[in-house]
Amino acid sequence: MKYDRQVDSALTELAELFLARHGHAPALLSRAPGRLEILGNHTDYNEGTVLSVAINRAARIAAAPNPEAKDGMVCRLYDIKGRSAREFRLDDLDNCRHGDWSNYIKGLIVEFNLQGFKVPAFDALVTGDVPLSAGMSSSAALEMAMCVILNNLSDARLTWLELAKIGQSCENNYVGAHTGLLDQISSLKGKAGQLIYSDFRSFEVENVPMPTGTVFVVANSKIKHNLTNEYNERREACEEAARILGVKALRDVSPEMLEHRKGELREVVYRRAKHVVGEIARVAAGQIALATGDLALFGKLMTESHESSRKNFENSCPEIDMLVEIGQTIPGFLGARISGGGFGGISVHLVQASAAERYCEALGAEYHRQTGIDSQPMVLAAADGATLWEY
Ligand code: GLA
Repeated sequence: MKYDRQVDSALTELAELFLARHGHAPALLSRAPGRLEILGNHTDYNEGTVLSVAINRAARIAAAPNPEAKDGMVCRLYDIKGRSAREFRLDDLDNCRHGDWSNYIKGLIVEFNLQGFKVPAFDALVTGDVPLSAGMSSSAALEMAMCVILNNLSDARLTWLELAKIGQSCENNYVGAHTGLLDQISSLKGKAGQLIYSDFRSFEVENVPMPTGTVFVVANSKIKHNLTNEYNERREACEEAARILGVKALRDVSPEMLEHRKGELREVVYRRAKHVVGEIARVAAGQIALATGDLALFGKLMTESHESSRKNFENSCPEIDMLVEIGQTIPGFLGARISGGGFGGISVHLVQASAAERYCEALGAEYHRQTGIDSQPMVLAAADGATLWEY
């Protein structure tokens, strides 16, 4: 698809900055959104189901091949927002620098190479407005924005699922976070005005309309999370539960079966499994609530999900609990929960659209009164998934 300057002013500006920096126009532009997880917490790597939404906050990239750059092996990246430049050689990618943003790009190239696709040297300018370390998947947005560009530059022609898996392998193998596929799939398969229902066993993905008359409000606890250690630990507990219960994944365990065989599991492992099994059941109930327009039930499921995160999975934190509690006292509230890996970041609230503005004000004011932190509550809209344009 050819880029039209009217599509996205931030992307048009990025293309102009690319021209100013490199003396030639970019060949490709891309945009890939962050996501909110709405129901189904830590179910993806348990082969379960999730309802998520791609948001109108995204990573944006302008890129062009640059075979002239040194011996055709050097890539140059520049992050406009962080004002940080990175340069690396395509034959020297085994140097993951802990915590560095370029890992999310270098790790993708490694994965393309492992699959037999050669990525040519390129220059890229990167920008984005997905809050970092907040639980909105800024890293997956960057990966998917880059993945669609690398897919084109290397002529790999991978499908969306293959691209999502490349992003996941980058996280698992290069960055060292043993995350599932939720963030990448959400970033690729979003649709304006729609939620995304994903099944992580069959990889069936479909869009479902947003519940009528509602919006999502996001409030940032400003507690920064670091997924790697605690996330990996939670994942190991789920795998231990599945192993002991003799199933392929927790997807195969019903709430009844778990209660029946509770005694075989360590107490903490039981609670981790209870969260995941409960979440999978809540996604199924949520699907029905959406189909029948039962907003109250859908909201209740979200709040129950949070309760289970707090008690069973222990991936919330006092600040997020506070945001969820405050929400319940404000008119327009339907439900609220932690979103994503956890241990900080954002809370997501389902709110009556007509009450959203005042809800944001009241939530922000009360959280600030209790903590001194500005959580910047805002309404986010459901947006389209990753898009690639020729410039
Ligand atoms: C993070 C991971 C996802 C998923 C969520 C929790 O966002 O990247 O794969 O596991 O946490 O649901």
